[in-house]
Amino acid sequence: MTILITGVAGFIGSNLADALIGQTGISIIGIDNFDDFYPRSIKQENLAGLLTRSNFRFIEGDIRDTAAIDSIFQDNKIDIVIHLAAKAGVRPSMENPLNYISSNVEGTTNLLESMRRHGVNKMVFASSSSVYGENEKIPFSETDAIDRIISIYAATKLSGEKITKVYHDVYGFSIVNLRFFTVYGERQRPDLAIHKFFKSILSGEPITVYGDGSTSRDYTYVKDIVSGIIASKNYVLQHDHCYEVMNLGNNDPVKLSDLISHIEQVTGRKARLEHKPIPTGDVPRTYADISKAQQLLGYSPTTHIGEGLRAFFTWYEQTQLTKSK
Ligand SMILES: NC(=O)c1ccc[n+]([C@@H]2O[C@H](COP(=O)([O-])OP(=O)(O)OC[C@H]3O[C@@H](n4cnc5c(N)ncnc54)[C@H](O)[C@@H]3O)[C@@H](O)[C@H]2O)c1
Repeated sequence: MTILITGVAGFIGSNLADALIGQTGISIIGIDNFDDFYPRSIKQENLAGLLTRSNFRFIEGDIRDTAAIDSIFQDNKIDIVIHLAAKAGVRPSMENPLNYISSNVEGTTNLLESMRRHGVNKMVFASSSSVYGENEKIPFSETDAIDRIISIYAATKLSGEKITKVYHDVYGFSIVNLRFFTVYGERQRPDLAIHKFFKSILSGEPITVYGDGSTSRDYTYVKDIVSGIIASKNYVLQHDHCYEVMNLGNNDPVKLSDLISHIEQVTGRKARLEHKPIPTGDVPRTYADISKAQQLLGYSPTTHIGEGLRAFFTWYEQTQLTKSK
Protein backbone atom coordinates (compact mmCIF):
# COMPACT_ATOMS: atom_id res chain seq x y z
CA MET A 1 0.00 0.00 0.00
CA THR A 2 1.25 3.50 -0.83
CA ILE A 3 0.39 6.41 1.42
CA LEU A 4 0.90 10.05 0.50
CA ILE A 5 1.68 12.16 3.58
CA THR A 6 1.58 15.92 3.07
CA GLY A 7 3.55 18.06 5.52
CA VAL A 8 5.82 15.05 6.15
CA ALA A 9 8.80 17.13 7.26
CA GLY A 10 6.82 18.75 10.06
CA PHE A 11 6.41 17.80 13.70
CA ILE A 12 3.44 15.43 13.44
CA GLY A 13 4.12 14.32 9.84
CA SER A 14 7.65 13.09 10.55
CA ASN A 15 6.58 11.29 13.74
CA LEU A 16 3.77 9.63 11.77
CA ALA A 17 6.05 8.58 8.91
CA ASP A 18 8.58 7.18 11.40
CA ALA A 19 5.84 5.06 12.97
CA LEU A 20 4.50 3.79 9.63
CA ILE A 21 7.70 3.20 7.71
CA GLY A 22 8.57 -0.01 9.56
CA GLN A 23 5.18 -1.62 8.91
CA THR A 24 5.19 -4.46 6.41
CA GLY A 25 3.82 -3.68 2.97
CA ILE A 26 3.77 0.12 3.37
CA SER A 27 5.47 2.63 1.10
CA ILE A 28 5.34 6.32 1.87
CA ILE A 29 5.60 9.28 -0.44
CA GLY A 30 6.00 12.46 1.54
CA ILE A 31 5.66 16.01 0.29
CA ASP A 32 6.64 19.23 2.05
CA ASN A 33 7.53 22.72 0.83
CA PHE A 34 9.70 23.59 3.87
CA ASP A 35 7.38 26.47 4.64
CA ASP A 36 9.30 29.28 6.37
CA PHE A 37 7.14 29.30 9.53
CA TYR A 38 10.15 27.75 11.27
CA PRO A 39 13.64 26.84 10.01
CA ARG A 40 14.14 24.42 7.15
CA SER A 41 17.11 22.87 9.00
CA ILE A 42 14.77 21.57 11.74
CA LYS A 43 12.51 19.93 9.14
CA GLN A 44 15.50 18.42 7.32
CA GLU A 45 16.62 16.93 10.63
CA ASN A 46 13.09 15.52 11.14
CA LEU A 47 13.44 13.71 7.78
CA ALA A 48 16.99 12.42 8.26
CA GLY A 49 16.09 8.88 9.39
CA LEU A 50 13.30 8.49 6.85
CA LEU A 51 15.57 9.38 3.94
CA THR A 52 17.65 6.28 4.61
CA ARG A 53 14.63 3.99 4.10
CA SER A 54 14.06 2.39 0.70
CA ASN A 55 10.25 2.49 1.06
CA PHE A 56 10.23 6.26 1.69
CA ARG A 57 10.37 8.89 -1.05
CA PHE A 58 10.50 12.61 -0.37
CA ILE A 59 9.30 15.27 -2.78
CA GLU A 60 10.04 18.89 -2.03
CA GLY A 61 6.91 20.56 -3.34
CA ASP A 62 3.90 22.71 -2.59
CA ILE A 63 0.35 21.38 -2.28
CA ARG A 64 -0.77 24.48 -4.22
CA ASP A 65 1.31 23.45 -7.24
CA THR A 66 -1.19 21.65 -9.48
CA ALA A 67 1.40 20.19 -11.87
CA ALA A 68 3.55 18.85 -9.03
CA ILE A 69 0.58 17.23 -7.26
CA ASP A 70 -0.84 15.83 -10.50
CA SER A 71 2.45 14.17 -11.33
CA ILE A 72 2.53 12.39 -7.94
CA PHE A 73 -0.87 10.82 -8.64
CA GLN A 74 0.05 10.12 -12.28
CA ASP A 75 3.29 8.34 -11.44
CA ASN A 76 2.18 6.38 -8.36
CA LYS A 77 -0.78 4.32 -7.29
CA ILE A 78 -1.69 6.15 -4.08
CA ASP A 79 -4.14 4.30 -1.82
CA ILE A 80 -4.77 7.05 0.72
CA VAL A 81 -3.69 10.62 1.50
CA ILE A 82 -2.90 11.74 5.03
CA HIS A 83 -3.09 15.50 4.68
CA LEU A 84 -1.14 17.30 7.39
CA ALA A 85 0.45 20.11 5.35
CA ALA A 86 -0.70 23.49 6.56
CA LYS A 87 0.50 26.80 7.79
CA ALA A 88 0.16 26.11 11.50
CA GLY A 89 -0.13 28.58 14.39
CA VAL A 90 -3.07 30.61 15.63
CA ARG A 91 -1.42 33.94 16.44
CA PRO A 92 0.49 34.46 13.16
CA SER A 93 -2.67 33.67 11.20
CA MET A 94 -4.13 36.92 12.50
CA GLU A 95 -1.15 38.86 11.12
CA ASN A 96 -1.06 37.17 7.74
CA PRO A 97 -4.52 35.77 6.95
CA LEU A 98 -4.02 35.45 3.19
CA ASN A 99 -1.00 33.14 3.53
CA TYR A 100 -3.05 30.85 5.75
CA ILE A 101 -5.98 30.80 3.38
CA SER A 102 -3.64 30.15 0.46
CA SER A 103 -1.89 27.07 1.92
CA ASN A 104 -4.69 25.70 4.07
CA VAL A 105 -7.78 26.33 1.95
CA GLU A 106 -6.53 26.65 -1.64
CA GLY A 107 -3.82 24.01 -1.05
CA THR A 108 -6.33 21.54 0.39
CA THR A 109 -8.72 22.12 -2.51
CA ASN A 110 -5.93 21.73 -5.06
CA LEU A 111 -5.00 18.40 -3.48
CA LEU A 112 -8.61 17.16 -3.45
CA GLU A 113 -9.10 18.19 -7.08
CA SER A 114 -6.01 16.32 -8.14
CA MET A 115 -7.17 13.26 -6.18
CA ARG A 116 -10.54 13.45 -7.92
CA ARG A 117 -8.93 13.67 -11.36
CA HIS A 118 -6.82 10.59 -10.63
CA GLY A 119 -9.45 8.43 -8.96
CA VAL A 120 -7.95 8.59 -5.44
CA ASN A 121 -10.74 9.18 -2.93
CA LYS A 122 -9.54 8.38 0.60
CA MET A 123 -8.21 11.04 2.95
CA VAL A 124 -7.42 11.66 6.59
CA PHE A 125 -7.32 15.43 7.18
CA ALA A 126 -5.69 17.28 10.08
CA SER A 127 -8.21 19.67 11.54
CA SER A 128 -7.84 21.34 14.91
CA SER A 129 -9.45 21.85 18.32
CA SER A 130 -9.26 25.57 17.51
CA VAL A 131 -12.52 25.19 15.54
CA TYR A 132 -14.32 25.04 18.91
CA GLY A 133 -13.16 28.63 19.53
CA GLU A 134 -14.73 30.07 22.64
CA ASN A 135 -17.09 27.12 23.09
CA GLU A 136 -18.17 27.15 26.73
CA LYS A 137 -19.56 23.65 27.00
CA ILE A 138 -16.96 21.17 28.19
CA PRO A 139 -15.70 18.72 27.23
CA PHE A 140 -15.79 19.72 23.54
CA SER A 141 -17.78 17.23 21.53
CA GLU A 142 -18.01 16.75 17.76
CA THR A 143 -21.75 17.44 18.01
CA ASP A 144 -21.23 20.92 19.58
CA ALA A 145 -22.20 23.91 17.44
CA ILE A 146 -19.14 25.42 15.79
CA ASP A 147 -20.04 29.09 15.84
CA ARG A 148 -17.49 30.77 18.11
CA ILE A 149 -14.30 30.66 16.04
CA ILE A 150 -11.86 33.45 16.86
CA SER A 151 -8.91 32.94 14.52
CA ILE A 152 -8.24 32.79 10.80
CA TYR A 153 -6.27 29.58 11.38
CA ALA A 154 -9.39 27.95 12.89
CA ALA A 155 -11.48 29.26 9.99
CA THR A 156 -9.10 27.61 7.50
CA LYS A 157 -9.34 24.30 9.37
CA LEU A 158 -13.14 24.44 9.49
CA SER A 159 -13.08 25.24 5.74
CA GLY A 160 -11.06 22.06 5.25
CA GLU A 161 -13.71 20.06 7.11
CA LYS A 162 -16.47 21.62 4.97
CA ILE A 163 -14.63 21.25 1.66
CA THR A 164 -13.84 17.57 2.35
CA LYS A 165 -17.57 17.14 3.14
CA VAL A 166 -18.42 18.41 -0.35
CA TYR A 167 -15.98 15.88 -1.87
CA HIS A 168 -17.64 13.20 0.22
CA ASP A 169 -21.23 14.19 -0.65
CA VAL A 170 -20.69 14.98 -4.32
CA TYR A 171 -17.83 12.69 -5.38
CA GLY A 172 -18.13 9.85 -2.84
CA PHE A 173 -14.80 10.44 -1.08
CA SER A 174 -14.09 8.58 2.20
CA ILE A 175 -12.89 11.11 4.76
CA VAL A 176 -11.91 11.29 8.41
CA ASN A 177 -11.27 14.78 9.77
CA LEU A 178 -9.27 14.73 13.00
CA ARG A 179 -9.43 17.62 15.45
CA PHE A 180 -6.03 17.50 17.17
CA PHE A 181 -5.74 19.02 20.64
CA THR A 182 -2.41 20.80 21.40
CA VAL A 183 0.10 18.18 20.39
CA TYR A 184 3.48 18.00 22.15
CA GLY A 185 6.47 15.69 22.36
CA GLU A 186 9.67 15.00 20.45
CA ARG A 187 10.21 17.46 17.51
CA GLN A 188 7.45 19.76 18.73
CA ARG A 189 7.34 23.00 16.72
CA PRO A 190 9.53 25.73 18.21
CA ASP A 191 6.63 28.23 18.24
CA LEU A 192 4.53 26.14 20.64
CA ALA A 193 4.36 26.91 24.37
CA ILE A 194 5.97 23.76 25.79
CA HIS A 195 8.99 24.03 23.47
CA LYS A 196 9.38 27.75 24.22
CA PHE A 197 9.03 27.19 27.98
CA PHE A 198 11.76 24.53 28.06
CA LYS A 199 14.04 26.75 26.02
CA SER A 200 13.48 29.74 28.32
CA ILE A 201 13.76 27.90 31.62
CA LEU A 202 16.95 26.11 30.54
CA SER A 203 18.60 29.33 29.38
CA GLY A 204 17.54 31.26 32.49
CA GLU A 205 15.21 33.53 30.51
CA PRO A 206 11.76 34.46 31.84
CA ILE A 207 8.78 32.48 30.56
CA THR A 208 6.13 34.61 28.89
CA VAL A 209 2.76 33.67 30.40
CA TYR A 210 -0.28 34.96 28.56
CA GLY A 211 -2.98 35.80 31.11
CA ASP A 212 -2.89 34.81 34.79
CA GLY A 213 -2.04 31.12 34.20
CA SER A 214 -5.64 29.91 34.48
CA THR A 215 -6.08 29.09 30.77
CA SER A 216 -5.97 25.36 30.10
CA ARG A 217 -5.17 23.00 27.24
CA ASP A 218 -5.83 19.34 26.62
CA TYR A 219 -2.15 18.63 25.82
CA THR A 220 -1.86 15.40 23.80
CA TYR A 221 1.37 13.47 23.40
CA VAL A 222 2.47 13.05 19.79
CA LYS A 223 2.74 9.25 19.91
CA ASP A 224 -0.89 9.06 21.09
CA ILE A 225 -1.90 11.34 18.21
CA VAL A 226 0.08 9.19 15.76
CA SER A 227 -1.73 6.06 16.97
CA GLY A 228 -5.04 7.88 16.36
CA ILE A 229 -3.98 8.92 12.84
CA ILE A 230 -2.94 5.36 11.99
CA ALA A 231 -6.25 4.01 13.34
CA SER A 232 -8.07 6.62 11.21
CA LYS A 233 -6.14 5.57 8.11
CA ASN A 234 -7.26 1.97 8.74
CA TYR A 235 -10.82 3.15 9.37
CA VAL A 236 -10.97 5.03 6.05
CA LEU A 237 -9.49 2.07 4.17
CA GLN A 238 -12.09 -0.25 5.70
CA HIS A 239 -15.16 2.01 5.35
CA ASP A 240 -16.11 3.00 1.84
CA HIS A 241 -17.87 6.33 1.56
CA CYS A 242 -17.42 7.34 5.21
CA TYR A 243 -17.30 10.90 6.52
CA GLU A 244 -16.40 11.41 10.17
CA VAL A 245 -15.11 14.26 12.32
CA MET A 246 -13.28 13.08 15.44
CA ASN A 247 -11.49 14.66 18.38
CA LEU A 248 -8.01 13.38 19.12
CA GLY A 249 -7.22 14.80 22.53
CA ASN A 250 -6.17 13.59 25.96
CA ASN A 251 -9.43 14.23 27.83
CA ASP A 252 -7.37 15.65 30.72
CA PRO A 253 -6.84 19.43 30.50
CA VAL A 254 -3.89 21.03 32.28
CA LYS A 255 -3.87 24.62 33.56
CA LEU A 256 -1.03 26.77 32.25
CA SER A 257 0.28 27.36 35.80
CA ASP A 258 0.30 23.56 36.40
CA LEU A 259 2.07 22.96 33.10
CA ILE A 260 4.84 25.30 34.27
CA SER A 261 5.10 23.42 37.59
CA HIS A 262 5.45 20.13 35.67
CA ILE A 263 8.23 21.66 33.53
CA GLU A 264 9.97 22.91 36.69
CA GLN A 265 9.84 19.38 38.08
CA VAL A 266 11.15 17.76 34.90
CA THR A 267 14.03 20.24 34.46
CA GLY A 268 14.76 20.75 38.16
CA ARG A 269 14.77 24.52 37.57
CA LYS A 270 12.58 27.33 38.88
CA ALA A 271 10.80 29.38 36.22
CA ARG A 272 10.77 33.17 36.20
CA LEU A 273 7.43 34.40 34.86
CA GLU A 274 6.60 37.44 32.78
CA HIS A 275 2.84 37.98 32.42
CA LYS A 276 1.36 39.45 29.23
CA PRO A 277 -2.22 39.94 28.03
CA ILE A 278 -3.82 37.02 26.15
CA PRO A 279 -3.22 37.57 22.40
CA THR A 280 -6.07 37.86 19.92
CA GLY A 281 -7.13 34.43 18.63
CA ASP A 282 -6.09 32.46 21.74
CA VAL A 283 -8.96 30.51 23.28
CA PRO A 284 -9.39 30.25 27.08
CA ARG A 285 -9.54 26.45 27.25
CA THR A 286 -9.60 23.23 25.27
CA TYR A 287 -10.92 19.93 26.54
CA ALA A 288 -11.66 16.96 24.29
CA ASP A 289 -14.49 14.51 24.61
CA ILE A 290 -12.78 11.53 22.98
CA SER A 291 -15.60 9.00 23.27
CA LYS A 292 -16.28 8.99 19.51
CA ALA A 293 -12.64 8.20 18.62
CA GLN A 294 -12.57 5.63 21.42
CA GLN A 295 -15.63 3.93 19.98
CA LEU A 296 -14.82 4.10 16.25
CA LEU A 297 -11.03 3.85 16.32
CA GLY A 298 -10.20 2.23 19.63
CA TYR A 299 -8.25 5.45 20.33
CA SER A 300 -6.95 5.49 23.88
CA PRO A 301 -4.24 8.01 24.80
CA THR A 302 -2.02 6.63 27.53
CA THR A 303 0.63 9.28 28.14
CA HIS A 304 0.39 11.41 31.26
CA ILE A 305 1.67 14.98 30.89
CA GLY A 306 4.66 14.37 33.21
CA GLU A 307 5.78 11.36 31.15
CA GLY A 308 5.34 13.18 27.82
CA LEU A 309 7.27 16.20 29.10
CA ARG A 310 10.14 13.95 30.20
CA ALA A 311 10.24 12.42 26.70
CA PHE A 312 10.29 15.92 25.19
CA PHE A 313 13.10 16.98 27.57
CA THR A 314 15.25 13.97 26.65
CA TRP A 315 14.81 14.77 22.95
CA TYR A 316 15.46 18.49 23.53
CA GLU A 317 18.70 17.84 25.41
CA GLN A 318 19.91 15.47 22.69
CA THR A 319 19.27 18.04 19.94
CA GLN A 320 21.08 20.74 21.92
CA LEU A 321 24.03 18.36 22.36
CA THR A 322 24.14 17.56 18.63
CA LYS A 323 23.96 21.28 17.79
CA SER A 324 26.88 22.11 20.08
CA LYS A 325 29.17 19.45 18.50
N1 LIG B 1 0.74 20.68 16.56
C1 LIG B 1 -0.49 20.86 17.02
O1 LIG B 1 -0.70 21.03 18.23
C2 LIG B 1 -1.68 20.84 16.07
C3 LIG B 1 -2.95 21.02 16.61
C4 LIG B 1 -4.06 21.00 15.76
C5 LIG B 1 -3.88 20.79 14.40
N2 LIG B 1 -2.62 20.63 13.90
C6 LIG B 1 -2.49 20.42 12.46
O2 LIG B 1 -1.68 19.27 12.24
C7 LIG B 1 -0.92 19.43 11.04
C8 LIG B 1 0.56 19.23 11.35
O3 LIG B 1 0.93 20.22 12.31
P1 LIG B 1 2.42 20.32 12.90
O4 LIG B 1 2.30 20.80 14.29
O5 LIG B 1 3.16 19.10 12.58
O6 LIG B 1 2.96 21.55 12.04
P2 LIG B 1 4.30 21.69 11.20
O7 LIG B 1 4.36 23.13 10.78
O8 LIG B 1 5.45 21.14 11.95
O9 LIG B 1 4.01 20.76 9.95
C9 LIG B 1 3.30 21.19 8.80
C10 LIG B 1 4.18 20.96 7.59
O10 LIG B 1 3.45 21.37 6.44
C11 LIG B 1 4.37 21.99 5.54
N3 LIG B 1 3.62 22.88 4.66
C12 LIG B 1 3.02 24.06 4.98
N4 LIG B 1 2.44 24.60 3.90
C13 LIG B 1 2.68 23.73 2.87
C14 LIG B 1 2.36 23.76 1.50
N5 LIG B 1 1.68 24.78 0.96
N6 LIG B 1 2.79 22.72 0.72
C15 LIG B 1 3.49 21.68 1.26
N7 LIG B 1 3.84 21.63 2.56
C16 LIG B 1 3.43 22.64 3.36
C17 LIG B 1 5.35 22.71 6.44
O11 LIG B 1 6.60 22.96 5.80
C18 LIG B 1 5.47 21.78 7.63
O12 LIG B 1 6.61 20.94 7.53
C19 LIG B 1 -1.26 20.82 10.51
O13 LIG B 1 -2.28 20.69 9.55
C20 LIG B 1 -1.77 21.54 11.73
O14 LIG B 1 -2.64 22.58 11.37
C21 LIG B 1 -1.52 20.65 14.70
